[in-house]
Amino acid sequence: MVIEKMLNSRLAQWLDERSDIVKLTRAHLTDYPTPKNLNYMWSFGSLAMLVLTIQILSGIFLAMYYKPSAMMTSGGYSVAFDSVERIMRDVNFGWLIRYMHAVGASAFFIVVYMHIGRGIYYGSYKGPRELLWIIGVVILLIMQGTAFFGYLLPWGQMSFWGATVITNLFGALPVIGSFLQELLRGGFAVGDPTLNRFFSLHYLFPLLLAAIVGGHVHALHVVHSNNPTGVDVHEGKGTIPFHPYYTVKDAFGVGVFLILYCYVVFFHPQLGGYFIEVDNYVAADNLQTPSHIAPVWYLTPWYTILRSFENKLLGVIAMGASLAVLFLLPFLDRSKVRSARYRPVFRQMVILFFISVLVLGYCGHSVPTPTLKLIGQLATIYYFAFFFMLPFVHKFEKTRPLPEEI
Ligand code: HEM
Repeated sequence: MVIEKMLNSRLAQWLDERSDIVKLTRAHLTDYPTPKNLNYMWSFGSLAMLVLTIQILSGIFLAMYYKPSAMMTSGGYSVAFDSVERIMRDVNFGWLIRYMHAVGASAFFIVVYMHIGRGIYYGSYKGPRELLWIIGVVILLIMQGTAFFGYLLPWGQMSFWGATVITNLFGALPVIGSFLQELLRGGFAVGDPTLNRFFSLHYLFPLLLAAIVGGHVHALHVVHSNNPTGVDVHEGKGTIPFHPYYTVKDAFGVGVFLILYCYVVFFHPQLGGYFIEVDNYVAADNLQTPSHIAPVWYLTPWYTILRSFENKLLGVIAMGASLAVLFLLPFLDRSKVRSARYRPVFRQMVILFFISVLVLGYCGHSVPTPTLKLIGQLATIYYFAFFFMLPFVHKFEKTRPLPEEI
């Protein structure tokens, strides 16, 4: 009612005559035809938009007080580390903004990993949504880059050593390796120039992300949403307008998310060292390597793949391939049926794939022991086997009968 009133207001009509704003809002938001059977797994897309907004806004406020310098103050700490402490102790509600941003980073990955998992389970990557999926993978890579750059900024022990380990990996690449490593670091070792360029990129990437998300949603609106059955929906028959049906459903998802998010922000911002590592409360010291260096949980699956190989170059190639293969997913899966609901073999494979990613994540976060290393290697083998098996599954899989309409 309120939205309808707003769209019919004289101001909206005045704007519409000059910009088509009302027509666009109707076509892409309120009247947008959406499959009538979407479940709550389809709420993670709009949630991801919300968390991206939280991250950009809290980041802008943090940047007003944060200082990207590794130079030492008279107190014996770097300017960057000191500025983060000042945000936590002196700036009004600085602690809240910092925790919103740090917890928001983990929340963003939880939401986006659920969104990707939904896409894989229900075959949303399959034609005609290949481009939508590819744009999604680009978003994922930019998100991972942004998180990695951001983690250096507090200039704590884990910031410094994490950046040292990861930038070292680039050095393993033949021919361009040392050039790339130096380019990233802005010198031979991680130091003040590294902090400056990481801060610059950490600010730039989310804005880029916002633009690419615009392209992602545009691509979605060209081909329209998939649904839990994976069956094509014919407009008018199986669709309902986005508003009020999905605005209300998504609002419920937002409410549940905000309750959980606020609980963690206010009561457990470090979440047992998973969201903010304890070592990062110790100022960076280039003469003291922490006993255990690991990235934050959302990067650990790929870190385990890297560590599964004795040879550093092979590890780097495998890690790159494990992300690059996501681009190929729409082309590897040849089945005509989309949703795992009707694909018994694919369903088992996908569930095992999700378990293997969780196991990889666990192994990457833990102190490596020979047993964990072996488990990590087995999970790595299955991760790749999933993609290798995909082109052949449809040849022997007996799919269940699909509904004619949703
Ligand atoms: C900033 C991160 C992202 C945002 C804000 C975002 C936003 C959205 C939104 C609003 C939708 C429509 C609602 C829905 O279907 O859930 C959507 C759909 C989709 N997204 Fe994303 N997305 C993000 C990341 C990704 C990533 C990383 C991937 C895959 C690698 C991906 C793949 C897809 C696919 C395949 C669909 C269509 C789903 C369907 O129709 O079943 N997205 N996205």
